[in-house]
Amino acid sequence: MTTTTLIDQIGLLYTGDPEREEVPDAALVIEDGSVAWCGPAAGAPAADERVDAGGRAVIPGFVDSHAHLIFAGDRTAEFQARMSGEPYTGGGIRTTVAATREAGEAELATHAYSLVREMRAQGTTTVEIKSGYGLSVEHERRSLEIATTLTDETTFLGAHVVPADMDADSYVRLVAGEMLEACAPYAKWVDVFCERGAFDGDQTREILSAGLKAGLGVRVHANQLTEGPGVRIACELGAASADHCTHLTAADVDALASSGTVATLLPGAEFSTRSPYPDARRLIDAGVTVALATDCNPGSSFTSSMAFCVALAVREMRMTPLEAIRAATYGGARALRRTDVGWLRRGARADLVILDAPSYVHLAYRPGVPLVHQVFHGGLLL
Ligand code: NIG
Ligand code: FE
Repeated sequence: MTTTTLIDQIGLLYTGDPEREEVPDAALVIEDGSVAWCGPAAGAPAADERVDAGGRAVIPGFVDSHAHLIFAGDRTAEFQARMSGEPYTGGGIRTTVAATREAGEAELATHAYSLVREMRAQGTTTVEIKSGYGLSVEHERRSLEIATTLTDETTFLGAHVVPADMDADSYVRLVAGEMLEACAPYAKWVDVFCERGAFDGDQTREILSAGLKAGLGVRVHANQLTEGPGVRIACELGAASADHCTHLTAADVDALASSGTVATLLPGAEFSTRSPYPDARRLIDAGVTVALATDCNPGSSFTSSMAFCVALAVREMRMTPLEAIRAATYGGARALRRTDVGWLRRGARADLVILDAPSYVHLAYRPGVPLVHQVFHGGLLL
């Protein structure tokens, strides 16, 4: 006999389900880790146990589809320098690579786990984790092996930058060959930082195509610091997501709109590098599916808070609170091609957050305030 749990007295249920996004005075039933029923409280079926939400809002657990959690070291000084006017170039990635290579496996794993716990406590129930601070066959493989202990959504980002001790051509060959072969068993996705100073269009295409051939799905760090070919390559290769999308041409927006590629916006990076935010309105108005993610990493965005990103998206990127919560849940799930998370509907995983607020709008209306009352992950109270 399985136990069923009824969460009732939900003041406002944001479901993430496009067919019925908001339900006031709602209830939800959990059975076997999944949502068995949700809807207006008046129609709720009986259950074995009851959780009283006390009029609070309920949302799906956040889906953070872009994070770099396997690293060691600290880049506080780089942040301080930026806040005194230095620009962000991505060059600091090599500082983290040196510290990560030095660190032991247990240290990296413990640190990454502490970040995942930090995320969960803030309502994130699905997280993608990238490698990219190892940049050698063994160090990238090790990073991904650690990532697999924390999530199913692991991404091989050997092509983050060219390491200091190698030339670009040999490194691209290594990434698309031996490194990919060693890492593919631990990865679901392949990613490339397509940017001036990192990897150009041809190199990006070569590495992503090799990843596709090895059975990995594609995602791309695209158009973060400058306009470039990243977004178009992502769309051309059928990437699940093009991430950053800060500097887009009209052709890039068209390519996204006519593809199944999600535009994942990472406002924590613009906040922390003091850069102009991506034009979310232009993307949404063109019909592009938008996701929000933290980009949690020690260089450009050291936040684990999806709520903070929602607040930034609303205040700085002119997304409505509804568009922002949608992008942080449903959008993130689309960016990972997942249909079991990111929404609350019959059959979905019971990943949900009871907010200490009457509405999801408070995530932006009360920025910086810890609004997570309870988190259920696979139906279990964390
Ligand atoms: O997504 N842009 C490339 N990668 C990261 C930053 C990495 C770093 O600065 O350490 C990003 O912003
Ligand atoms: Fe990133």
